[in-house]
Amino acid sequence: MTTSIISSCDPLGMEKCVSEILAGGVVAFPTETVYGLGANALCAEAVEKIFEKKGRASDNPLIVHVDSVAMASEICYLSKDAALLMEAFCPGPLSLVLKKKDCIPHVVSANLPTVAVRLPGSEVARNLIGRCGVPIAAPSANKSGKISPTLAQHVLEDFNGELPFIIDGGACTVGLESTVIDVSGEIPTVLRQGGITLEMIQKILPKAKLHSGALKNDVTPPSPGMKYSHYCPTAPLTLVLGSDYNNIAACIKQHISRAPDTQPVVVCHQENLQNYDGFDTVTMGSREDLRSVAQSIFAALRKADGKLFGKKGTIYCEGVENADVGCAVLERLFKACSGNIIDTDDVSPMTDNL
Ligand code: TXA
Ligand code: MG
Repeated sequence: MTTSIISSCDPLGMEKCVSEILAGGVVAFPTETVYGLGANALCAEAVEKIFEKKGRASDNPLIVHVDSVAMASEICYLSKDAALLMEAFCPGPLSLVLKKKDCIPHVVSANLPTVAVRLPGSEVARNLIGRCGVPIAAPSANKSGKISPTLAQHVLEDFNGELPFIIDGGACTVGLESTVIDVSGEIPTVLRQGGITLEMIQKILPKAKLHSGALKNDVTPPSPGMKYSHYCPTAPLTLVLGSDYNNIAACIKQHISRAPDTQPVVVCHQENLQNYDGFDTVTMGSREDLRSVAQSIFAALRKADGKLFGKKGTIYCEGVENADVGCAVLERLFKACSGNIIDTDDVSPMTDNL
């Protein structure tokens, strides 16, 4: 199969994508968060193809994308809390877990009684759904466990020859997957952090909380996706945390000097570039603008990984401020580094026992 990149501004190309989805096929499309791998959510056979192509575990449910609140109410029972959040944040980077209606096949919800529903902020995505006239089930358009795609090119890297069409809508503006919140029960619970932060949600629903398993492995995950490894580059990634970026840089350089046969790439904030003079670097936005870090983190990790393709290398990534959307970025980085974390606030980078 040849994979064609279709501009979202090409009406004929978009028509082909609509036909492909209505014929039970899978098409990659842009959203404001990350690119999605979409199929008709009402057709079990079409959705099964997503699981196959992505290599996704069948117990990990998909998010269903709709173009309106009316379409959402056809597939799930909207709770009062859900209605309040939709009014405040939708269309936008938020997915609501709600009791599902029977029209959603079990393969979509991985046999759960709930379904995650999302009304995307991206006009291209909403137009596609509207033209198809059916809800579209879509996980992020990356191979399972790998880094989420924020450009059409990233999707091509993972699925060249496996999809007929990738709709190119440019770079995703949010850059992290949607916030997932369970509003099917008494206490609205954030299962995955994202562009809509807990603080923003609590302004609408003060009782909302963050699920305690969101950052730990010792609690039964309420969202099946939490138990799988995620966002992993091919090269090992070391995450270096701390409140002082000079200490972080000193620590990274010390680690690099101790592994002379390993090629390093440093992923850092743009203000800190000067700290890594002479080293191979990739920037991930500005410390002063955590939204810019969220927007570029996945692309930065892919770029760093690309530099180390076929080599023995290590990616060192600076920690991100644990505030606002930085919390969602850190949630991704904790998973991406598979536990390889150094906290320079705990250990002095100048000691010998690092
Ligand atoms: O921004 C996004 O949400 C992107 C774009 C394409 O819209 N999609 C996305 O999908 O990130 P995916 O499949 O990569 O992540 C969906 C997450 C998984 O962690 C899954 O376990 C969780 O949502 N999820 C889906 N349905 C659920 C449900 N009924 N209950 C609990 N968690 C659910
Ligand atoms: Mg994903």
